[in-house]
Amino acid sequence: MMMNWQEKYRDKIYTAEEAVSHIRSGDKIIFGDWAGEPPVLIEALMAKANTLKNVEIIHGMSPGPNTHIDKAYEGHFHHTSLFLGEKTRSAYREGRVDFLGGSNFHEWPKIFARNPDINPHWAFIQLSPPDEAGDCSFGISCCFTEPAARTAAQVIAQINPNMPYMGGEKINLDAVDYLVPAETPLYSIGRLDIDKKTQTIADYVADLVEDGATIQLGIGTLPDAIARNLMSKHHLGVHSETLTEAMMELVEAGVIDNSMKTVNRGVCIGAQAAGSKKFYRYLDHHAMFATMPVDYVNDPFEIGKNYKQTSINGCIEVDLKGQANSESIGGIQYSGVGGQLDHVRGARLSEGGKSILTLNATAKDDTISKIVPFFEAGNVTTVSRYDIEYVVTEYGVADLKYKNERQRAEALIAIAHPKFRDQLRFQGKKIGVL
Ligand code: COA
Repeated sequence: MMMNWQEKYRDKIYTAEEAVSHIRSGDKIIFGDWAGEPPVLIEALMAKANTLKNVEIIHGMSPGPNTHIDKAYEGHFHHTSLFLGEKTRSAYREGRVDFLGGSNFHEWPKIFARNPDINPHWAFIQLSPPDEAGDCSFGISCCFTEPAARTAAQVIAQINPNMPYMGGEKINLDAVDYLVPAETPLYSIGRLDIDKKTQTIADYVADLVEDGATIQLGIGTLPDAIARNLMSKHHLGVHSETLTEAMMELVEAGVIDNSMKTVNRGVCIGAQAAGSKKFYRYLDHHAMFATMPVDYVNDPFEIGKNYKQTSINGCIEVDLKGQANSESIGGIQYSGVGGQLDHVRGARLSEGGKSILTLNATAKDDTISKIVPFFEAGNVTTVSRYDIEYVVTEYGVADLKYKNERQRAEALIAIAHPKFRDQLRFQGKKIGVL
């Protein structure tokens, strides 16, 4: 009779409280990315916060309850965040979170390994139950969860039966120091209704996606709307930071078959997956989906090996010279680069590739133009004018590749909201691009 894995590895099995009892003041802990964060270990760590001082927690978007970032834990925990989201933004402004800006996502594993301030003693991760060989899947979050386990001195893993066993990178239980079996729900993402403006942008983007292309799409309403518009395409493939529920629908419809991919033919490759519980169940043992570490999936050279790699990402504003800011508002960090620049550059290296940046033409009820003559002080350039290609708003498509300054400014003004066009032309003359 087959031996139960918990019997085989009983010497390594602990409760969450027992496993985290080894954490000491001053230790550095990296959490797995996204759903690779293990809720039961984080709760057990918070429960012993009063006995700890200056524990450094390194994390990504960190979608969980995140109360460990609250002011109440000041002095006990300090954070280094690789991305600013809804929950970390205020803590960043209040000094409880250091932001690891200026680094591309595919390089983060090198940062954990080489920056002594965050080189982790511990990785807290979440895994699927093992197969017969004792190999666990990183499931919907291989991303920097695998690099975290690879780098940290010791690994504590929550083994969660809800985590799908997916193709791609695995970790053997021999490489894990403490095993904590616990069933908790995985973080999931709902879908929102698509408004008219979003649908218009999605229509323009879908026209740019060619049959046989390999696509990268983010999460959110716009990528969803774009994916729905791809139903009439043929032989699409996926090499994307995130695998999304819309991709499942395109696989089921036979639109995504990965048959034209020049690497990983037949398989959708992602660093992570995000969607509903139904999507996660679908991914379990599905031969067409695999997750791999971010230093592979987001490496521009690896991305660029794909034929017609087409990257689609959002940005906050674009200036008349063709620089895009995708991460700051009002001079302050708002989100992070994520894999945006990795995928823009990878698409540029790909034969027949395209990179597409999308944005609404305006913000705040049409009072602010997102096509601007220049950025306000403190706002950063995420995609430089040397890397940018297509920019799409609800007013159309600006193809900036191989264009001179004047042509770029004209193309961008043509996709700005009409009420701002004269003003942009006036400013464009002042700064010499028109
Ligand atoms: N000036 C002032 N406010 C602005 C603004 C501008 N130029 N642009 C946006 N805003 C405001 C919006 O009004 C909105 O405010 P609200 O929350 O009060 O309504 C808020 O900022 C968010 O704007 P929105 O356009 O809805 O952003 P989004 O949720 O679509 O996200 C990015 C856009 C660019 C921030 C997001 O895509 C991002 O972080 N990208 C970088 C990382 C990335 O691309 N990852 C994927 C790579 S694989």
